[in-house]
Amino acid sequence: MDLSKRKSLFRKKSIENNQHENGLARVIGMPSLIFFGVGGIVGTGLFTVTGIAASEHAGPAVLLSFLIGALACSFIGLCYSELAGMITESGSSYSYIYIAMGEFIAWIVGWNLVLEYSVGAAAVAVSWSQYLKSILISFHLHLPYQFFASPLEKININGQNISGILNLPSTFVIIFLSLYLIQGIKQSFRMNNMIVLIKLFVVFAVIAFGFSYVDFDNFKPFIPENTGQFGHFGISGIFQAAGMIFFAYIGFDSVASTAQEVKNPSRDIPKAILIIITITALIYVTFAFVIVGLVNFHQLLGNGAPVATAIDHTPYKWLQPVIKFSIIIGYFPVLVLLLVGQTRIFFTLSKDGLIPKFFSVIHPNHKTPHLSHMFFMVFICILSAFIPISILSEMCSIGALSAFFFVCISVMILRRTHKDFPRRFKVPGGDIIPIFGTLVCCVLMYSLSNITWLTIGGWMFIGIIIYWLYGHKHSKLQQKFHN
Ligand code: ALA
Repeated sequence: MDLSKRKSLFRKKSIENNQHENGLARVIGMPSLIFFGVGGIVGTGLFTVTGIAASEHAGPAVLLSFLIGALACSFIGLCYSELAGMITESGSSYSYIYIAMGEFIAWIVGWNLVLEYSVGAAAVAVSWSQYLKSILISFHLHLPYQFFASPLEKININGQNISGILNLPSTFVIIFLSLYLIQGIKQSFRMNNMIVLIKLFVVFAVIAFGFSYVDFDNFKPFIPENTGQFGHFGISGIFQAAGMIFFAYIGFDSVASTAQEVKNPSRDIPKAILIIITITALIYVTFAFVIVGLVNFHQLLGNGAPVATAIDHTPYKWLQPVIKFSIIIGYFPVLVLLLVGQTRIFFTLSKDGLIPKFFSVIHPNHKTPHLSHMFFMVFICILSAFIPISILSEMCSIGALSAFFFVCISVMILRRTHKDFPRRFKVPGGDIIPIFGTLVCCVLMYSLSNITWLTIGGWMFIGIIIYWLYGHKHSKLQQKFHN
């Protein structure tokens, strides 16, 4: 590779030129942002992945996994806040890294964010269909449940283990919400706020009704002995569970990705991110304490709806349908956040010329990137129909962690290259927090399974080819670089 080509891979966007308007409506204020964040974060990670992580990896020590996740998110969230207070362009980590580390790394991160957002949305849709199935069963409605599971999953029907065919309900929810979001973000935020209230009410109801029925025997042993296999209980299990559970915190960063639609981004986004992480961490640890305190972790194995099982261990069984129904509704804001985040990141990539213009076409009336929404609707439907949740949630975690790793590094780089550039917020303690942030991302990524590593390797390989064939030539910076 000649020197100029190598240099062009690391060409950077200027920080001064990133505050331009892109035609999206600025309608989001601080309360909506916090609701958008908390409502979008609390979801499958808590309501489904807690059960998988406790029963297969950490036992009751899943509480420690949640704490590790919270700690990791605080480091990363602080770094995000510093960058969000400097750079207000949509695209979040991708935009920050473009300025700090140059185009190629930014592209890889933007590409990996598809794993975080689209694959994450697919995971949530699959979990949604599991709670829907649970409701249908409790009303004695017996449907062909092969259409509620991917072909890679076995389901038990009348004592027989049979393979799934495809997860059909998960595709319905994705289609419904994508079409809804195309209608306009203002309307979506209003609906979102209402649903978030219902979801938070349910979370607090489970904690309040379940707390006094916690059986402390369920916490013995708190850290089950490792079985001899990495990640299967013991300390490695706690970390593998933390890597998985990191999924539960995903979403705080997409608050930053709506910067073009926030009224006062440099003031509101850093504040909102920190408030959101604190609220969700408190909710998760308390909620997980109640769930694993009510049900022995062995009983959560293969259980797609652990919250319903936990409530079964209290005298308040009447709460079950209310809770399942609210969880189903409560997943909507999570999906909204992931679908909006995905299209806005591709919007920015497209504006930068790294992907075709198709992804930044704005609907003349609704002011939303409608074609991009349609594209990802099809893509996410295919993922959720055919891939099980355990694979999807780990892929989502590794996609996010790989982006966060570079975010933490970008903070340190920009402090040197843009020392005097105004920051609304600066992470205290010098480089300590960004360094801890990068380390914690590495530890959590390392603890994920081999199949997840293979997937991200393959995904990045495809990304590099696309960049080589398209992005590098069409990049907005290409012309500038040659002048
Ligand atoms: N944090 C989101 C959830 O747990 C992705 O569903």
